[in-house]
Amino acid sequence: MEESPVIRFFGGEDFPVELHKVRVVQKLHLIPIEERLRIAEEAGFNTFLLSTRHVFLDMLTDSGTNAMSDRQVASMLMADDAYAGSQSFERMQEAVQEVFGMKYILPVHQGRAAEHIVFQAYVKPNDVLPMNYHFTTTKAHIEIPGGTILEIFTDEALKTKSTCPFKGNIDIQKLKDVIAKHGAAHVPLVRMEASTNLIGGQPFSMANLREVRAVCDQSGIPLVIDASLIGENAYFIKQREPEFKTTSIKDILLEMCGLSDLIYFSSRKVSSTRGGGIATNNVEIYDKLKDMVILYEGFLTYGGMSVREIEAMAVGLRETQDETCVSQSPSFIKYLVETLDAKGIPVITPPGALGCHVDAMQFLPHVPQTEYPAGALAAAFFIASGVRGMERGTISSVRNPDGTDLLADLELLRLAMPRRVFTLSQVKYVADRLIWLWENRDIIGGLRFNYEPKVLRFFMGRLEATTPWPQKLVEKFRQDFGDSL
Ligand code: F0G
Repeated sequence: MEESPVIRFFGGEDFPVELHKVRVVQKLHLIPIEERLRIAEEAGFNTFLLSTRHVFLDMLTDSGTNAMSDRQVASMLMADDAYAGSQSFERMQEAVQEVFGMKYILPVHQGRAAEHIVFQAYVKPNDVLPMNYHFTTTKAHIEIPGGTILEIFTDEALKTKSTCPFKGNIDIQKLKDVIAKHGAAHVPLVRMEASTNLIGGQPFSMANLREVRAVCDQSGIPLVIDASLIGENAYFIKQREPEFKTTSIKDILLEMCGLSDLIYFSSRKVSSTRGGGIATNNVEIYDKLKDMVILYEGFLTYGGMSVREIEAMAVGLRETQDETCVSQSPSFIKYLVETLDAKGIPVITPPGALGCHVDAMQFLPHVPQTEYPAGALAAAFFIASGVRGMERGTISSVRNPDGTDLLADLELLRLAMPRRVFTLSQVKYVADRLIWLWENRDIIGGLRFNYEPKVLRFFMGRLEATTPWPQKLVEKFRQDFGDSL
């Protein structure tokens, strides 16, 4: 077992050190700002429509973009190509047992496929599903069979600036109230999302998970964990919950999973591969779900994944027990968040998993929410730096029946930090350009749609600037940076 990666410094400044070396590289391109403006306009100011050909640092997501280890890549050569009974699957099954302590594993092609199967099997019309916070695909898969999500987070969860170590906790009283109001028969599952994505990658505590488990036991309701970012949540438990200061990540993971009835995950995150899975120790749950895997995903020993990915997933899951692996992205995020916070830039605190989240409503208070501050900030940041982030605000929301925007709770620019991908100098560049943008935030204006798809508009929608602010931003950049890229 790897030791805890504690490095102390002689000279004052504390910073994360990469505990891996780079052995395969991909050339990046940083194109001049005038071209970045042209490309942003061509992409309708939507970072989903950019080609990586024009992106310097891709911080859109950590999904499917984490770096694999040499051992993962090597394992792919050992893949046993077989439709049924593949040894690759057996190796993955052993890894799931070792890492999550779960006997049964159903492989699926990615996280949302697991959600499709779990919620289709459990949710009936008029059911309610309490959870710490939803993820976009989760909400959709609960609503399709007629269920409603109920977010029962604590008062701290949506405060962007906070010192609360566990903003992903469920409010236990609210959970009891939901069950009392709707009746256990209408609550098919309670869902806890590890390192809760949409509130800024914020973890829940083991104490909270134990309490949720106790309430579930009283009512006979199964507890499901979305384990897509469970390694990072385990790391935060070790860092922030005194009881676990000297516990290994391996044991924390086993206790977390042991408190649930089933878990599901996106392997695109948890094991730095592709694919996903559903795991449980309960044979009845396994039997309830397995036919749907065969119907929608593939045979039970590959579930829509290639056997190469299954091999790499087995190795990737074991690496989740290694603190140097699961702490890498959070320690870089912490560095970026603290650097920006020290300059007064509004970022979600405490630093979480997945990425650094900038509060666009505070960054651009002069841009009304109907002109999409998070989208405008994402576009402005690409123009200023070549770095691609993701809008997580009203553009990612929908319209009300009367045609007005359903305004999002939070307007965030998410700068994802895929695991083991960026170097510290690249992270310093991100901070530098964001600090410059902060100093020049008055220049940034709003956006409006000029093409708006009816469904999931944030993926393919196109927008334009409401005033010529992007050109002004380029002029100011040239004044301040001369001939710099
Ligand atoms: N659950 C959580 C917590 C997620 O973050 C995601 C994906 C999914 C489920 C769905 O998994 O993409 O493999 O189908 N999150 C990605 C992101 C898309 O960018 O945050 P998937």
